[in-house]
Amino acid sequence: MAPIMIGTQGKMAFLHLLIVLLVPLLANSSEDTSELRRWCFYTNWAQYRSNEMRFLPDDIDATLCTHISYAFANIVNNNLVAFEWNDENSKWSKGMYARVNELKINNKNLKTMLAVGGWNMGSLPFTHVISSKDNRKKFIENVITFLRIHNFDGLDICWIFPTKRGSQSGDKEKFGNLLKEMKDAFKKESKEKELLLGIVVGSKKSLIDEAYDIDAINKAVDVISIMSYDYYSPQDSEYAMHPSALYSGNSTNEDEYERNVNFTAHYWNSLGVPKKKINIGIPFYGRSFRTGSHTPEKGVKEGLPSFGKGNGGIYTKDKGFLAYYETCLLEKKSVFMEDRGVPFIAVDNDWIGYENIESVKLKANFALQNNYGGLMFWTLDLDDFKGICNGGEKYPLLTAANSVVNKDQSTKENTKDSS
Ligand SMILES: *[C@@H]1O[C@H](CO)[C@@H](O)[C@H](O)[C@H]1NC(C)=O
Ligand SMILES: *[C@@H]1O[C@H](CO)[C@@H](O)[C@H](O)[C@H]1NC(C)=O
Repeated sequence: MAPIMIGTQGKMAFLHLLIVLLVPLLANSSEDTSELRRWCFYTNWAQYRSNEMRFLPDDIDATLCTHISYAFANIVNNNLVAFEWNDENSKWSKGMYARVNELKINNKNLKTMLAVGGWNMGSLPFTHVISSKDNRKKFIENVITFLRIHNFDGLDICWIFPTKRGSQSGDKEKFGNLLKEMKDAFKKESKEKELLLGIVVGSKKSLIDEAYDIDAINKAVDVISIMSYDYYSPQDSEYAMHPSALYSGNSTNEDEYERNVNFTAHYWNSLGVPKKKINIGIPFYGRSFRTGSHTPEKGVKEGLPSFGKGNGGIYTKDKGFLAYYETCLLEKKSVFMEDRGVPFIAVDNDWIGYENIESVKLKANFALQNNYGGLMFWTLDLDDFKGICNGGEKYPLLTAANSVVNKDQSTKENTKDSS
């Protein structure tokens, strides 16, 4: 009897060990965790910013992110390809893909995504990839090989935008087919860690209605990141409006009812996309509108007539656009719009709608309290990663978002302890 008993115990112990080993793996394969995702975009062009604001993989603080999405890879002849000369390794240097993926050595739970697409790539390469079952199959096989070679954990599809910019009729359905076929292929391929599938989607109601196959998204996509910003931009708005207000606020302008984070997030969910799949996008930049000089008579407020782009930042050098590390220097002039949940700065001839620590915390709290799955940050290199504004504190916006998440976790733990 005794040896058999020991044998059974041995088996039990082995089973127990298996469960202990497998449970975290299973939990990891789903993105349905209770922890709010912090989905941080890395951009391979921020390496070209001038001197002190040049941004490289070593500048990333991976402890502040659960996922890093590496923007952007390109599509050429239905193949996923690197865009920058130093994305991949060369004979004489380690590429940025490898340098980003090495962050996982010290951050075991970090996951990395390769983002494909972006504004500059437009719709044509996607339209071509999805046009036939054969093309899709070839692309999907190529994606899997490429991600595995470079040690990424998934693909983040940033098509800006399906059904627009040269898209063909039927692209909505074909894009849905691509997503479903890709997910199936990821499942078949996975050994222990299935590749993740993410998409980055638009926030305009009319676009959402036209461009996305919600059923395919629900079946195939692990995470959708909403670009809940650029609701207004100086190149196409007649009024100086905040690019990423959390709420429509007390305005009676009907347009604004649909152009805010709260509306878009609810809208995606109302179509049937589970909240846990959704990342709320937060821009780490502001937009400046040329409004003319500000006078008390005219009022210093949102909604003044705009004549186009205002001044850009001294580092980012793009009219109408400022990184947080450029607006944070003007924080003393900041006015917070309580009803909209975001701040602005009126300076010289410009009105700047932007994010600060307070608005990022509000958005993070919004995601947390409404049970969304995560936050997406566009982008790491636009936060004050050098710590020039808040007494040397690096990444104040990302840290602010993390403080909300961590506070929630410690509250949960305390509750558990006391029960
Ligand atoms: C948020 O959006 C929902 C759904 O559109 C709406 O019912 C609610 O009033 C909004 N909340 C605020 C504070 O605007
Ligand atoms: C609307 O909100 C702003 C603050 O953002 C406030 O100054 C203003 O008084 C509010 N207007 C009304 C009618 O409540």
